[in-house]
Amino acid sequence: MKQLTWLITGCSSGFGEAFVHEILARGDRVIATGRNASERLKHLEGTGAAILEIDVTASQAELDSKVKEALEIYYGIDVLVNNAGYFELGLLEEVRQMNTNLFGPMNMTKAILPYFRQRKEGKLVFIGSVNGFQGATASGPYTASKFALEELSSFGIQSIIFEPGGFQTKLLSSSKVESAGTAQDEYQQFFAVVQEAIQSRNGWQPGNIQKGVQRMVDVIRSEGYAAGRPLPKRLPLGSESLNIIKEKCFEILRICNDWEDLIVSTDSEEVPGKKRKFDGAL
Ligand SMILES: NC(=O)c1ccc[n+]([C@@H]2O[C@H](COP(=O)([O-])OP(=O)(O)OC[C@H]3O[C@@H](n4cnc5c(N)ncnc54)[C@H](OP(=O)(O)O)[C@@H]3O)[C@@H](O)[C@H]2O)c1
Repeated sequence: MKQLTWLITGCSSGFGEAFVHEILARGDRVIATGRNASERLKHLEGTGAAILEIDVTASQAELDSKVKEALEIYYGIDVLVNNAGYFELGLLEEVRQMNTNLFGPMNMTKAILPYFRQRKEGKLVFIGSVNGFQGATASGPYTASKFALEELSSFGIQSIIFEPGGFQTKLLSSSKVESAGTAQDEYQQFFAVVQEAIQSRNGWQPGNIQKGVQRMVDVIRSEGYAAGRPLPKRLPLGSESLNIIKEKCFEILRICNDWEDLIVSTDSEEVPGKKRKFDGAL
């Protein structure tokens, strides 16, 4: 495969940082981005990565100009990895989470799409989550942001959403998890319990960052495990994600089979000679 140029968001730690090292090790070029880059991406200086300041919550105009700047570094970009994100503990009443986890990827994608469309080539990568498939307790904003990302990933241009289960990054570390708290007394105790559960999970997630990133790069480059296989639209990552997704699929299938008679009984009568208006689900 030809040498690729990658643009990655959120490279200060975790998946983003591991992507930078893996991409360079494969002989590709990478533009590592992050907020407060002079401080938080300092450890990537001298690795061979180009470094660019991007806060994905910036305005569309600023992101457009950042992507333009990025395009000039290596005279093009082949892959955009929408990786930046964080976990906000809370209920759906609080939706600040969307700015980073949903609008960030959406606006970065908008900024690069005209270029991908013009050259009729380019890959969009979204780091979703198993939580975009199956929600978890007190993670409404995070779940909603990742669920919406599933929708965003179907853009008509080659794109994939990875759905990792738990991986040992900083995502759940106490310095990174944000919590809007709650004004409602009845939730206070519940929040404290969930917060404790998250902290005791931190560092015990089953996923290995390097292996996860190696497989993702394999998929994008059609190498290793992914050699000769077409790009899937979505891919769970890690046994935790696989088990949760399989379990939910079986559960949905069971409900569909057990309740099929009731489910289909709500269709309107077919009007003879008339074409059905809708073939899809909408
Ligand atoms: N680890 C897991 O178990 C897991 C599972 C499923 C999905 N994911 C997803 O994987 C992605 C990467 O997270 P991670 O697990 O590698 O955690 P991480 O180590 O905390 O990395 C998150 C990265 O996102 C960056 N970021 C946050 N807000 C940003 C913003 N507004 N603009 C630019 N960068 C921003 C952080 O930068 P700062 O240093 O500036 O905060 C950091 O570099 C996230 O989208 C996360 O939801 C992780």
